[in-house]
Amino acid sequence: MNRCIGLMSGTSLDGIDGALVNVQADGNKVQFIHGITRPFSDSLREQLAALAHREMVNKEALARMDVLMGHLLADVVKALLTETGMKAKDILLIGSHGQTIGHYPDKKAQFKHSTASTLQIGDGDVIAARTGIPVVSDFRRRDMAAGGVGAPLIPLLDSLLFSERKHSICCLNIGGIANITVLPAGESEPIAFDTGPGNCLSDLAIARLIGKGQHFDTNGENAFRGRVHDEILDRAMDDRYFDQLPPKATGREYFDEKFLDFLLELGRDVPFEDMLATISCLTPKSIAAALRRFVPADDFPTELIVSGGGVRNRFFMEKLKDYLPELEVNSSEKYGIDPDFKEAMGFALMGYRTMKALPSSIPAVTGATSQQILGKISLT
Ligand SMILES: Nc1ncnc2c1ncn2[C@@H]1O[C@H](COP(=O)(O)OP(=O)(O)OP(=O)(O)O)[C@@H](O)[C@H]1O
Ligand SMILES: [Mg+2]
Repeated sequence: MNRCIGLMSGTSLDGIDGALVNVQADGNKVQFIHGITRPFSDSLREQLAALAHREMVNKEALARMDVLMGHLLADVVKALLTETGMKAKDILLIGSHGQTIGHYPDKKAQFKHSTASTLQIGDGDVIAARTGIPVVSDFRRRDMAAGGVGAPLIPLLDSLLFSERKHSICCLNIGGIANITVLPAGESEPIAFDTGPGNCLSDLAIARLIGKGQHFDTNGENAFRGRVHDEILDRAMDDRYFDQLPPKATGREYFDEKFLDFLLELGRDVPFEDMLATISCLTPKSIAAALRRFVPADDFPTELIVSGGGVRNRFFMEKLKDYLPELEVNSSEKYGIDPDFKEAMGFALMGYRTMKALPSSIPAVTGATSQQILGKISLT
């Protein structure tokens, strides 16, 4: 057994997912064994949000948070070991994505060099020191160093999980941001990119309009109570990100409070439930539009396989079916893939591949010049 642990804490700032998996020796197959999620406390979430979303950041606070996140990630590993009765020596390695603080894929030139960059915190050295297990972390930068947008990286996992497909399929992850991986039936490369908002705008709207410690629209219940205003939705769909050609990646620094302000301004006379329905609708609408705009007709998928916390938002799932009636829409659960742990599984797999000097990025997806062996290694 090549038991590996994957750690993921996404842009929703909901907490850390840890997955224990078994990776096949050649790095081409991965099996889920067990997963846990440790939610962030409200005060930690606030501090992370301040670092991730404010323009000006205190550098000591950032440096210290990098170490604190390392400890919190190590705590999740320890909890996972306790729950599964494993010891550190039973685990080959940890692949840790870290917490994204900023993602800046545009190749702005400074002193004649592209300064496209990304920042994930949660020091791999701290995780390795605390757990006694080798750690691979900071996966995105190597792809960016090779001219890529550093995202998405999950298409490798998608293509390995669904390697035996008969039709073109689309894996959709609805985290803070939504991303798709279209896997054509034949040999052609996957088409994968961030489609735009996932849960993030709905989460921000809930926090702003309801508050009271509520962070998301449980099962989409609030959105179901409202009416979607198509004229507002159409204005929102005019945003330039939706027209931008792939490869492309976005983040919560784009679909942020200011974007929410813009939407709320468009609907300033609209009842709050209608606004929530309309804002929520932007997620499925932009996913459907991305498929129609950027996937060639021959590769158009027959099935949408959905993962990420957004699977539980029934409003998203219902609207996806409305906008894409020709597709079968299923949770990844149908294929034995827990929707909450797919990304953590992916980083366990990528960590393993890095240790074996195997590449994990797909240049056709990220726009990099070549495939890259991703991440930095902290040995024990
Ligand atoms: N019962 C639920 N009903 C509606 N939405 C839910 C429910 N449970 C979780 N969510 C949504 O899922 C989000 C968390 O999803 P997830 O962990 O996949 O996102 P993430 O951490 O941003 O990951 P990433 O950005 O890496 O894909 C929550 O912020 C919330 O919006
Ligand atoms: Mg999460």
